[in-house]
Amino acid sequence: MLSVLMIGDIVGKPGRKSLADKLPKLLQRYAPDLVIANGENAAGGKGINEPIAKEIFDLGVDIITMGNHVWDNRDILRFIDETPRLIRPANFPEGAPGRGWVIHELRPGIRPFAVVNLLGRAFMNPVDCPFQAAARLYDEILKNSPSDKAPVLIVDFHAESTSEKETMGYFLAGKAAAVLGSHTHVQTADERVLSGGTAYITDLGMTGTRESVLGVKPEIMIRRFVHQLPVRHELEEGPGILSGVWIQIDEESGKATGITRFAEQ
Ligand SMILES: [Fe+2]
Ligand SMILES: [Fe+2]
Repeated sequence: MLSVLMIGDIVGKPGRKSLADKLPKLLQRYAPDLVIANGENAAGGKGINEPIAKEIFDLGVDIITMGNHVWDNRDILRFIDETPRLIRPANFPEGAPGRGWVIHELRPGIRPFAVVNLLGRAFMNPVDCPFQAAARLYDEILKNSPSDKAPVLIVDFHAESTSEKETMGYFLAGKAAAVLGSHTHVQTADERVLSGGTAYITDLGMTGTRESVLGVKPEIMIRRFVHQLPVRHELEEGPGILSGVWIQIDEESGKATGITRFAEQ
């Protein structure tokens, strides 16, 4: 059995602290072969920079995925091309810096993983079609691999809409071992294995301060929504949460057999 952890959006310093505090216990409990985390908000809520990417890798994360905030911290433009384990959405226009997917080799003889990052379009800024990008990458990554070495495909679908995310789950059912939603920072209780052996959850939830609005100080968000004033997002501090899922994948078939949700406090 292959064991995979995927961790939801790490929000700023409080999120990195939650990761540092709570990931070691999960590594012990689940002994994962692969750890993926969404890092689009890791630097003060806005993008990621090189020291923070290093910090997250050093804590035991193998692959960092991103999302709509990928370019918020311009430092990423300097190092993304030399950091293959940091991936950005694959459905950005041709020529965007970095890459939208990565092959992660485990051990000789064991199928490698292919981790793909996609960005949704419903209630979000315009971007290329995530479904066409998924189909194209599936062909490119899986059909061109020898069948005994075909990578186990894991997708982080970073999107706002529950329907767009469920649709992606069914679109890739039987093709990907997992389609995992990120972006809303609120964990959903709909984790399941779709027929065809695809582990699915609409949203992994957040890694950050538990008593907050998606990581931001509630009083700031109250000012924004109640008074409709422009506000500067400041991250809340306090007890943390680490959210995500643990997936079990059959090594032989490359299909998921189980998905377990966690929200460590
Ligand atoms: Fe996020
Ligand atoms: Fe996002």
